[in-house]
Amino acid sequence: MRLPLVAGNWKMFKTVQEAFVFAKELGPLVKDITDVEIVIAPPFTAIHTVAEALRHTSAFVAAQNIYWEREGAFTGEVSAAMVKEAGAEFVIIGHSERRRLFGETDAIVGRKLQAALAAALTPIVCIGETLEEREGNQTLAVLDRQIKNGLDGLTADQVADTLVLAYEPVWAIGTGRVATNSQAQEAHAHIRGRLRQWFGAHAAENCHILYGGSVKPDNIEGLMREPDVDGALVGGASLDVQAFVEMVTKSRPATL
Ligand code: 13P
Repeated sequence: MRLPLVAGNWKMFKTVQEAFVFAKELGPLVKDITDVEIVIAPPFTAIHTVAEALRHTSAFVAAQNIYWEREGAFTGEVSAAMVKEAGAEFVIIGHSERRRLFGETDAIVGRKLQAALAAALTPIVCIGETLEEREGNQTLAVLDRQIKNGLDGLTADQVADTLVLAYEPVWAIGTGRVATNSQAQEAHAHIRGRLRQWFGAHAAENCHILYGGSVKPDNIEGLMREPDVDGALVGGASLDVQAFVEMVTKSRPATL
């Protein structure tokens, strides 16, 4: 049984003070919700503050990125152990903005994934095609490449027990152009099929696959009703606490 997971990726938004205000409001609003996993990914600077503010709530904190080395002369980088110590339990890896703007490859995703697992962080690995790739009928081939190369070396148990995948079509991110429910389901079913083929049925059935890209309070229910959509990775709409809680509430199994 895969509990729905709703994660807010704040990207480069919110100061420590703004993040604190959000977290303090969020805690009481979700205190009775035990049937949805809730994750907030603030900027590095606010991880500790948000984790402290959410300490006795059901919500977890994610980092938006890590470097794969444990420590060393890597100016500007932050390790998995460092974000874990600051209070993160999850980490987003290979977001399309990191792939596109910062040159992250599937090989880099693989190294960061191993570093996350070694530090007992739950990785949320992002995959997804560009508009050009979709229009060129390359979507499934791109997903195959990102899964095969990015998850190289993972065990079936790691996929089953820890890994979270996020399907985020690049053309749907920040554009207001959400994938249709059936486009999302088609991609998710394909991803789960590949997990079954490469890691076995148990891994495929247990791995969470989130959808991301222009998810909002008014479109999350339809997406969540699709059998292979296990949750959402939300950007812009996660910045407002009321909108975020509405999306969490609409993802509860009983309401779908
Ligand atoms: P938006 O929800 O703003 O489209 O962003 C999606 C995203 O990139 C989440 O990681």
